[in-house]
Amino acid sequence: MTAHPSVRGDVAVLVPAAGMGVRLGPGAPKALRLLRGEPLLVHAVRRVAAAPSVGCIVVAAPSDAVDDVTALLGPLVASPVTTAPIVASETCGAAEPKLEASSESPLLLVVAGGASRQASVAAALAAVPAEFGIVLVHDAARALTPPELVETVADAVRGGHGAVIPVLPVVDTIKEVDNSGIVVGTVDRSVLRAVQTPQGFRRDVLTSAHAAAVDEHTDDAGMAEKIGVPVHTVPGSEAAMKITRPFDLAIAELLF
Ligand code: CTP
Ligand code: MG
Repeated sequence: MTAHPSVRGDVAVLVPAAGMGVRLGPGAPKALRLLRGEPLLVHAVRRVAAAPSVGCIVVAAPSDAVDDVTALLGPLVASPVTTAPIVASETCGAAEPKLEASSESPLLLVVAGGASRQASVAAALAAVPAEFGIVLVHDAARALTPPELVETVADAVRGGHGAVIPVLPVVDTIKEVDNSGIVVGTVDRSVLRAVQTPQGFRRDVLTSAHAAAVDEHTDDAGMAEKIGVPVHTVPGSEAAMKITRPFDLAIAELLF
């Protein structure tokens, strides 16, 4: 793949957005559901693009919606949240994008996602231009994540950590139960953390972690753990909540 020089930032952000949103109930794929009149994916990409470190965004869209998503994200050039212009291009794997970003804007690529989140991330990772040495993975479902959190994670990778995750303390008491619902034990909450995205990686770490993964993981840091890479934590953000169920969408509507 030909390099796409970007003076804007040294970070590529992969945005898995190909999930169906089963837990959200019947309707369009989750990333295309509306929050305050705009798809969750638009909210998410707009905020990622507003982070100055970001030079490239690769969205993994539902496979039958690549053109729609490309058209949807192109107008973000007029976004009121980010002043950086964005150029949307459709590409897959080593194919060249139809358009290139200006030196001031993040390159935006849209690829077809896979049957699992992991497959979608792998498809997006394969499309990242060679010059990006830092890669973040960020769920479209965390639509209201502030750009500052993207910068915090990127800074930590830039500072020498191979894998970085944003975390929050666990507020509920957590109990382990058996198959019949009987409590087996109470977990020490003080050592637990709830994990968010964006998760950040040195590019070679993420590539190796995906190459080595044999089973399904719900996050990318889990794969890095499996290959023995220490995973560094940084403080997360309440606004980076994942929209999973209708209740979460209702909360997100109130967060604006
Ligand atoms: N995702 C993806 N490709 C898949 C499955 C999930 O890109 N095959 C993405 C989702 O679009 C989402 C993120 O991974 O942005 C986190 O997944 P999740 O919150 O589980 O979303 P869904 O899989 O869409 O929801 P559900 O599990 O309720 O169907
Ligand atoms: Mg899912």
